[in-house]
This record gives sequence, structure tokens and C-alpha cells, in this order.
Amino acid sequence: MKPTDVKRYWEGNADAWTRLSRAGYDVYRDHLNTPAFFGMLPDVRGLSGLDIGCGEGSNTRPLAGRGARVTALDVSEIFIRHAIHPPAAEPSHVDYLVASAVELPFADSTFDFATGFMSFMDIPETGGVLAEAYRILKPGAFLQFSITHPCFDLKQHRNLRDEKGAVYAVALGGYFDDQEWDIAEWSFSAAPSGAREGLPDFKVPRSNRTISQWLNLLIETGFILERLAEPRPGDPMVRDHPVLQDAQVVAFFLILRARRPGTGGARNSAL
Ligand SMILES: C[S@@+](CC[C@H](N)C(=O)[O-])C[C@H]1O[C@@H](n2cnc3c(N)ncnc32)[C@H](O)[C@@H]1O
Repeated sequence: MKPTDVKRYWEGNADAWTRLSRAGYDVYRDHLNTPAFFGMLPDVRGLSGLDIGCGEGSNTRPLAGRGARVTALDVSEIFIRHAIHPPAAEPSHVDYLVASAVELPFADSTFDFATGFMSFMDIPETGGVLAEAYRILKPGAFLQFSITHPCFDLKQHRNLRDEKGAVYAVALGGYFDDQEWDIAEWSFSAAPSGAREGLPDFKVPRSNRTISQWLNLLIETGFILERLAEPRPGDPMVRDHPVLQDAQVVAFFLILRARRPGTGGARNSAL
């Protein structure tokens, strides 16, 4: 799949995605993945950061709210238009721009940190996005990103349910399937059909990368792997949001933090 095709698909998703996620229907993101991401994020107060693949900015705003000077980009012009008009209750100071993650319009060693909230698995040039992130980070700076879990979010995927309807296992296949990109069609499962009426399902280009491919690409790029997280909801969270129950059985998300080595071997020297 060509980068222009990926952009076209995301332009087609952007309006419905923004409407439904701002209405609170992206439950896995808002109540599971994003809290875990921020729980793992180092202190960013006073640092300059780049958010890569920011969408309509719902994770970029709290990032800036943590006291960082944030620049954020997305390949979709429509998403960036929405991002610069955030909901009134969520003002933010973020510099937004339209650009591709694989051609970052910044000089080498510009930022103290970079983030990618659920965007890197959507970019065909996996090695390219990691290489660009590495290039624009200062020595000692970190990259933290979340992706769909390479082991458990597979194309062949069926929930097995007990007599009460609770998921107790997930049947999975295709982990080693070839790397071709295909289009996954879906919408936020928490959104009632009324909320989705008149809105197209999302069409998301996605690839298949194994866990060793992700980790080896990070290592080959020069990063030092620093921390991982696999968010799992607790029982109170599942009581409030029953749709999350299957995420107690396997991990649907993986959060990774890696660091560009500092000069003279000192880790974290810029921070
Ligand atoms: C699943 S959405 C996540 C959006 C946002 N980070 C969030 O957490 O809500 C993935 C985003 O990656 C963006 N994207 C895909 N390919 C890209 C590329 N080459 N460069 C920059 N952004 C890209 C899409 O336009 C989309 O906004």
C-alpha cells in the first residue's frame, strides 16, 4: 500500500472518528490505554515534545496539560483541522501541523521526547517512522508509543464465552501471516447504532508485525528499550464499562518506551 493510500483512508475516517471519540465511545482508549500510557510517561514538565500521528488531539491535549511544550502532527488534514478546534472544555496550547511520520520536517536532535498514541502500527513504513523519531530526538531523549498488541490483536480472532456471556478465552491465528497490508473495517463497539447512524465504518489500513519484528526494529534503529506495559482493566473498571471485559483475558495494547542513547553513554542526560 502506498503512503498516499494510507492518507486517503484516514481522511475518510477523520470526521466520524472525531465525532464518536469526542462523544466518549472510544472506551478502550479513554479508560484503558490512555491512562496506562500516562501512568508510564516520565515527567515531561518543561520539555519539548513531538506527538506523531496525533489524530484530533485527544491524547495530545493532556500531554500538553502535563507542562510540556508540544508540537503534534498527522498525515490527515481533516484530523488536524479538528485538532486545532478542540472541545471548549479542553483548551490546549499545541502547535499542530500536517506532515508524515516518515518525513518529519524538523532538524536532527530537536526534541526532548516523542510520543505516538496508537499510530505507529498504522504506518506502513515501520522502520522509517522509528528512524525518523530517533533522528529528531536529542541524545538521551525518549520515545514512548502504544500499538495494538502484536500477539493478541490479530486478524483471526474469536472470543470464546462462558454460559454468562463472559469471555474466558480468545481463539487467535495468523500471527506469522505475511506482512501485506489490508483494510480492517470497524467502528467503536461502545457506540450504539443510533450514534453511528449516517456515519461510515472506519477503514483502517493495517499490517502484521510480530513482537520480535517490533523489538528488533527498535534495537536496529539504535534505541535502548526501557519499559513496556500491557494495560489490563481492573474489576471496578469492567463493572463501569462491561465492554472492556475481554481485555482482562488477553492484552490488546502494548506500550513501549525506548531511549536514544545519551552522549558519552549517559542515559537520560538531556532530561
Ligand atoms: C488510531 S489513530 C490515533 C490518533 C491519536 N493519536 C489518538 O490517540 O486518538 C492513528 C493516526 O495515525 C495517523 N497516521 C497514519 N499514517 C500516518 C503518517 N504516515 N504520518 C502521520 N500520521 C499518520 C492517522 O491519520 C491517524 O490520525
